[in-house]
Amino acid sequence: MRLPKRVKMVEVGPRDGLQNEKTLIPAEVKIALIDRLTEAGLPVIEATSFVSPAWVPQMADNAQVMAGITRRPETSYPVLVPNLKGLEGALAAGAGEVAVFAAASETFSRKNINCSIAESLERFAGVIAAARNRGVRVRGYVSCVLGCPHEGEVDFRAVAEVAGRLQELGCYEISLGDTIGVGTPGRAEAMVDAVAKLVPRHRLAVHFHDTYGQALANILAVLERGIATVDSSVAGLGGCPYAAGAAGNVASEDLLYMLNGLGIETGVDLTKLVAAGNYISGQLGRPSGSRVARATGCSPRSQQRRQTPNQDKED
Ligand code: HMG
Ligand code: MG
Repeated sequence: MRLPKRVKMVEVGPRDGLQNEKTLIPAEVKIALIDRLTEAGLPVIEATSFVSPAWVPQMADNAQVMAGITRRPETSYPVLVPNLKGLEGALAAGAGEVAVFAAASETFSRKNINCSIAESLERFAGVIAAARNRGVRVRGYVSCVLGCPHEGEVDFRAVAEVAGRLQELGCYEISLGDTIGVGTPGRAEAMVDAVAKLVPRHRLAVHFHDTYGQALANILAVLERGIATVDSSVAGLGGCPYAAGAAGNVASEDLLYMLNGLGIETGVDLTKLVAAGNYISGQLGRPSGSRVARATGCSPRSQQRRQTPNQDKED
């Protein structure tokens, strides 16, 4: 196996996760989550998005969140922007990095950002140029790289073309999104190989939603193909409001547990990451979506109880 020595973990829970919650989460909770993720040592934390509040009301508190978080100089806090209006908001809130998001499927592009792929790339050209002029780095996303909720199979040549164009426009990194989590390892490898013909592997990231439970297997497969940047979401939060039924991203705790087991460096502390995931799960009033958090989350007392069930009566 040819695995990277170090992987950059990109935490997307506060944005990709919380954009999909039915109830509105108070900004203070989002801030407390991001601060805990910072404490855990994550190098990149996608903090929020500056999209239309009519489309995604969950992110309407974007400026408040950006103003409230305690930023560590070595951590980057990118935000999603769909257009120049979003960029203006992001810059006013002091964002040092933004992300634009395109798709490899026409129907998804229209449903998510209300325009065709070509129109979106034209719009992003202006956004990327304006951001870079202000010294702000731009990450690019391509959605639906392994399947579309509306069109089914997606041609990898379309994925490669959109990724290549985002790179030409000035994105320093392109994140390949399996928005609906349908991919399997062989297809994930083939997709990465197709994109790598236009974008070098060190500029690629993967972003696997875990709807079908394939995300970790897909990640391992592409790590062996030269990918060393992986998006994930604490407690497995998330989904996309415009991809019904899609589950959250691979849980950051589960990804980190696997990387630790493989001896791959990340700089992230698993105990603190699990605590951050348990914090937000508690706020949402449901068990963590991370298998590692659930496996390690039992208190010593409840573990003891499980081993000696008769003692329950004495408690
Ligand atoms: P539109 O309705 O076509 O926009 O939406 P418009 O330009 O016609 O403007 C309509 C109104 O929205 C105007 O206000 C604008 O000012 C306002 P009015 O004059 O009517 O009062 N507006 C905005 N307000 C605040 N911030 C803005 C903004 N832009 C316009 N940035 C638009 C087009 C792109 C804005 C809309 O479709 C949108 O916001 N879409 C975002 C959807 C979204 O956030 N989806 C989830 C993130 S993507 C994702 O999760 C996938 C990813 O995780 C990767 C993967 O998993 O595949 C990244
Ligand atoms: Mg996503």
